[in-house]
Amino acid sequence: MRVLVTGGAGYIGSVVAAQLVAAGHEVTVLDDLSTGHADAVPARAAFIKGTLRDCAAEVLADGIEAVLHFAAKSLVGESMAEPARYWSTNLGGTIALLEAMREIGVRTIVFSSTAAVYGEPERTPIAETDPTRPTSPYGATKLAVDTTLTEFSRLYGFGAVSLRYFNVAGAHRAEDGTWFGERHHPETHLIPSVLASVAEGRRVQVFGEDYPTPDGTCIRDYIHVSDLADAHLRALQACRPGQHRVYNLGNGAGFSVRQVIDVCAEVTGTEIGVDVTARRPGDPAVLVASAERIQAELGWQADRDLRAIAADAWEFTRARGTR
Ligand code: UFG
Repeated sequence: MRVLVTGGAGYIGSVVAAQLVAAGHEVTVLDDLSTGHADAVPARAAFIKGTLRDCAAEVLADGIEAVLHFAAKSLVGESMAEPARYWSTNLGGTIALLEAMREIGVRTIVFSSTAAVYGEPERTPIAETDPTRPTSPYGATKLAVDTTLTEFSRLYGFGAVSLRYFNVAGAHRAEDGTWFGERHHPETHLIPSVLASVAEGRRVQVFGEDYPTPDGTCIRDYIHVSDLADAHLRALQACRPGQHRVYNLGNGAGFSVRQVIDVCAEVTGTEIGVDVTARRPGDPAVLVASAERIQAELGWQADRDLRAIAADAWEFTRARGTR
């Protein structure tokens, strides 16, 4: 299939693009490189540098059959400081893409949504039918896109799937040995931050140890980026005209910040020094997915556990600079 991957120079987009190429799809990446890296685009994918507003129509008109849409701003804290920028990029950019798709007649889309649409959950694990009450502009913009996709499916016959990611981590090793991983500046996510601290001999900060959890630190559902990419390939096959499906993407198992740091210590063979600081505003105590719907409907299940996630992220941290 000829597919467009928006945001395919970013962390998750580049891994999905690599797996699409490996599965025999013809891939075009559109990315404005505002946060992505041109050298993260898989070698066998075509690359166009540009924004959705300026370039989507032209790229789509070149025989594209389906879109995997990752291009977005994705930091909760930043979205609190710059909400208008998040609405403009995440919702405005997506509307420009969807309008171009409608005009050209491309109606298949897999969208990168987030657990942040649920906000502070009422229960654990979180099901897709649970209330969506985002607590950040980031989550609100992603929920607005989910709603827009429901409408475009109903009104224009789009076939859409939204995948609501929980905590994505790890790195992907392509068939040719190339590593694809997280290269955010600054890095805010737990696993790459811990591993960077190990590599640089720094101490790790734990944001709060007074949560209502067994060890007092926040619990999250970590999913390996290669498993996540596999779910996208399945979602692409599951798009049906007139339907918008929504799936949580997690393992259904939660690990605390302390447990993650312990696994990173094991994998790196290093003792990790920890400083406990204040809570980070907006962090819910526990975020764990119910992955039942995606298992039942798409036959998807995560293959890789937390240890594999940390081990691959560590390989990538050590290999960085070669790509
Ligand atoms: N944490 C630390 N120290 C660090 C970094 C993180 O203690 O140096 C803690 C955080 O406070 C949190 C946990 O580690 O409790 C995980 O934090 P991340 O920043 O790795 O991930 P989040 O859970 O904040 O973010 C994830 C997704 C977002 C999504 C959000 C919903 O990455 O896309 O969940 O709340 F929006």
